[in-house]
Amino acid sequence: MLKSHSCGELRKEHAGHKVVLAGWVHRRRDHGGMIFIDLRDSSGIVQVVFNPQTSREAFQVAGSLRNEYVVQVAGEVAIRPEGTQNIKLATGDIEIVAREVVVLNPSETPPFYVNEDEEVDESLCLENRYLYLRRPRVRDNIVLRYKVIKFIRDFLDAKGFVEIETPILIKSTPEGARDYLVPSRTNPGRFYALPQSPQQLKQILMVAGFEKYFQIARCFRDEDLRADRQPEFTQLDLEISFVEEEDILQLMEELFVSLVKAVKPGMEMVKPFPRLTYREAMEHYGTDKPDIRFGLELKDISDIAAETDFDIFRAAINEGGKVKGICVPGCANYTRHQLDELIQLAKDHGAQGLITMAIIGEGSEVSEVKSVATKYLTQEQIEEVIARFGAKPGDLLLIVGDKLEVVNKALGELRCEMAHRLNLLNDNLLAFAFIIDFPLLEWDEMRNCWGTMHHPFTAPQQKDMLLLDRNPNKVHGRHYDVVCNGCELGSGSIRIHQRQVQEKIFKLLGYSEVEMQARFGALLKAMEYGAPPHGGVAIGLDRLVMLLAGEKTIREVIAFPKNQNAEDLMFGAPSEADKEQLDELNLKLKGS
Ligand code: AMO
Repeated sequence: MLKSHSCGELRKEHAGHKVVLAGWVHRRRDHGGMIFIDLRDSSGIVQVVFNPQTSREAFQVAGSLRNEYVVQVAGEVAIRPEGTQNIKLATGDIEIVAREVVVLNPSETPPFYVNEDEEVDESLCLENRYLYLRRPRVRDNIVLRYKVIKFIRDFLDAKGFVEIETPILIKSTPEGARDYLVPSRTNPGRFYALPQSPQQLKQILMVAGFEKYFQIARCFRDEDLRADRQPEFTQLDLEISFVEEEDILQLMEELFVSLVKAVKPGMEMVKPFPRLTYREAMEHYGTDKPDIRFGLELKDISDIAAETDFDIFRAAINEGGKVKGICVPGCANYTRHQLDELIQLAKDHGAQGLITMAIIGEGSEVSEVKSVATKYLTQEQIEEVIARFGAKPGDLLLIVGDKLEVVNKALGELRCEMAHRLNLLNDNLLAFAFIIDFPLLEWDEMRNCWGTMHHPFTAPQQKDMLLLDRNPNKVHGRHYDVVCNGCELGSGSIRIHQRQVQEKIFKLLGYSEVEMQARFGALLKAMEYGAPPHGGVAIGLDRLVMLLAGEKTIREVIAFPKNQNAEDLMFGAPSEADKEQLDELNLKLKGS
């Protein structure tokens, strides 16, 4: 090795030891006749001091060092003089008195600071990913990711799970996104699809008798990207035979609780994890991935609104919609400009507008309600609205009347925005919750037929089986989600394991016999050979690590993520293919 120790491991106990270190110049400071270098390697940072009296030669070389040069330093560990300790550094009690320094490789000036955590233009940090990954915070995220995966493997291993890899070149499995296709050279005109998830394969592994499967699985989805979406991402995918919903929920809760204790012992959780039905989540939070770290719950005032003379309210109700709102404490004095911002936000999320009601008064006495709506409401109706929200003087009511989906969407977003503005988001709290009792199906306006809330393999709830023919919209699925701090972390279900039921669902979803056979023939056939009852879940690993690391996007916890346009800016992928490659694949580009 070119080094005897790692930078981050040195402590007071090493005082007097002769060491050789190797790493990167994190920062250099010239202090009247002495040069200080923070030397960084993968284990941490240590201060190296160059004193001309110790070694003139080393001092001279130190003068030429620049940030990110790779150097080897030989010297002695010394206790730092009293008053110069750095409590922010694990090695802050000591420093290395350098006798020799060798430049192993110089560095160009990086396009952004590696030693500071200021925001960098996204393209720059993706193009120069190796420099961005050198930042201690980002490095810590990647190490945390490794620890999370290691913990999960050990946890599931102890419970008798077997990790099984499944193929990447496979056939399309619907998870609601577009497939990435890979042309086959040996089968001209035919394509593999990259797996959107190993869903069908893990079910087939259950038919194969493995009973407890898991995989740290790469998934590929060609969809619009967001802060918590990448085209290529990782799931903790698992499946178990002979289980019911409760078994999977308990396993997940145990996994998350023990994982957080192991990797982020300082973080709090709400235990046991609350369970909300889909309906409750939509009613109270306007979303099926609620952030339950704070209240500001949605209240339905449709019944009161219907009786008023206010056109906006009445129109919403007459068109089959709803009037709902949230009560935001302490914002009654919002300025016109601030209110306009909120109105715009509601519009950005599909609402036609937003009615605000500022509750003015002293103590518990309401003296005035400032709103365009008040002149159309009787005193009694105003009081009923105030009582429904439990509003007090100083509160601001934000009300939307529209189609239920629009009302929920707009208020769900406003709720989060207001929580952010009011500082209600406890960064130290991981508020996990399970969402259960989802509808099995939802009407797909575009395709004019039923679509699934989850995927077509989710079993209908037994009690609703008879409704499948008459009233498909009333059928609940055996589907559950796990959410945390407003993020959908994972999704799973008890599956259909009988061919007739699976075919029935495919038919409801509009698949013809031929399509069914072509797309799902293998799974349908496997179901005929003693498929056991089974169920499972997949947890978005990138999202889990993002929450544990306190990051806002999954790009911060992925070593080599893609940009918003699904491009790899470092290697320049996707890129054009040579004519020979295209010929070999029997492909011709449009217009060429
Ligand atoms: P689902 O499609 O809900 O379910 O995905 C499970 C979890 O994977 C994560 N996820 C993503 N993370 C980053 N980027 C993406 N583009 C992305 N898409 C999904 C989310 C999500 O909750 N086969 C089923 C699971 C099952 O039924 O067992 C499935 O994939 O955290």
